Amino acid sequence: MAQLIPVDTFDLIIFGGTGDLAMRKLLPAMYHRARDGQITTDSRIIAVGRGEMSRTDYVSLVERALQENLKEGEFDANEWREFEARLSYFNADALDYGTWTDLAKSLSGKHERTRVIYLATAPQLFGPIATGFSANGLINSCTRIVLEKPVGHDLLSARLINDEVGRCFDENQIFRIDHYLGKETVQNLLALRFGNSLFEPLWRRGVVDHVQITVAEALGVGGRIDFYNSTGALRDMVQNHMLQLVCLVAMEAPSSLDHDAVRDEKLKVLRALKPITADEIKTRTVRGQYTAGAINGTTVPGYAEELGSDTDGAETFVALKVEVENWRWSNVPFYLRTGKRLESKHSEIVIQFQDVPHSIFPDLARNIVANRLTIRLQPDEGVKLSVMAKEPGPGGFALRPVSLDLSFEETFGIRYPDSYERLLMEVLRGNPALFMRRDEVETAWQWIDQII
Ligand code: BG6
Repeated sequence: MAQLIPVDTFDLIIFGGTGDLAMRKLLPAMYHRARDGQITTDSRIIAVGRGEMSRTDYVSLVERALQENLKEGEFDANEWREFEARLSYFNADALDYGTWTDLAKSLSGKHERTRVIYLATAPQLFGPIATGFSANGLINSCTRIVLEKPVGHDLLSARLINDEVGRCFDENQIFRIDHYLGKETVQNLLALRFGNSLFEPLWRRGVVDHVQITVAEALGVGGRIDFYNSTGALRDMVQNHMLQLVCLVAMEAPSSLDHDAVRDEKLKVLRALKPITADEIKTRTVRGQYTAGAINGTTVPGYAEELGSDTDGAETFVALKVEVENWRWSNVPFYLRTGKRLESKHSEIVIQFQDVPHSIFPDLARNIVANRLTIRLQPDEGVKLSVMAKEPGPGGFALRPVSLDLSFEETFGIRYPDSYERLLMEVLRGNPALFMRRDEVETAWQWIDQII
């Protein structure tokens, strides 16, 4: 059984405290951890937002958000009362440090506790907010800062943000979040690859034909149209989530789970990505945009209608043929694809093995389908290995593909925690292994920039 390790008393300060991420992910995640007894009663969650609002109004807003975003049966009135006692709200302008007085007052005198500053804001505010904490003397060795993705919109802006935040915080105090790294099944990739000796000899060129990584979403862009339209699928999903998945599939075994050992190996993969040059864009990339249609019988508008403009707008779908140029993966294509408003929400990694070199079976059974290992990230998390088997009974050798299928939920029979639950606890403990280091983020942008 995994153990629940409580975290030390903390102050968690969320900039963007009334925003979508806080309401849909961060506060529900903290509620779950509080409910499981992982956070102390005198820890505080301090939301900072630009709207004038009383504490009572903020608490009601969070209560409604939890009721909407938790699964059936997860909201409990008693647990909620205990949880809400930890909440407070400050109205402050991130760029006007004069308005931070109340916030600063509330933090002063609490220097001994872990202090986490979570920036769920636009990336252009990351530097100025970090500077504000520094200018107000609110940073000490127990302070950490979390940067939501995207860190910038290209290499240059990422460097500027990293420089500005880096002037106020040491690299080991900066936690750049990619929530895919907190998903149970993504971590399971490490367990599958490095907790079993079975796969290692097969995990390479000469045995693997190609790899497919798919992250499909049924939802459209919803209320995030302004953000999304200046971002697009390549920046929103590929630069971070998809490339991190490529890293975990392709990397060599780290010497330990030490945060830098893992991140060093991931970085080597990013550095080995073959550039997609201008004359290869047409053959190695596809981009698309959803139009109006129906999903499960419900009519949905197209992206252009949602945008309400004649301009082309951002891509909502992207597919890429990626190559990792090293000894292990030379000439093994990695096909990545991601998009919104696809048929259903499903994310998976497929390791497609090569065909058998020669069939010894008679004509009837010639159609041997090559083995494939499918790692389902969501929903119905699990692993499936397809193998050829003989159909039982008389009539000679008739072969057919069958699956060895493992569903994690059925096997372990527990609720799968949301990735933010794990990641927030890791920040509070000061463990950066599941977060992106500066060089990873910048190397990923460098590769993406030439495609853009
Ligand atoms: C976010 C993107 O990082 O990931 C969103 O900004 C996307 O556009 C989301 O919808 C997908 O996350 P998940 O966990 O639902 O696969």
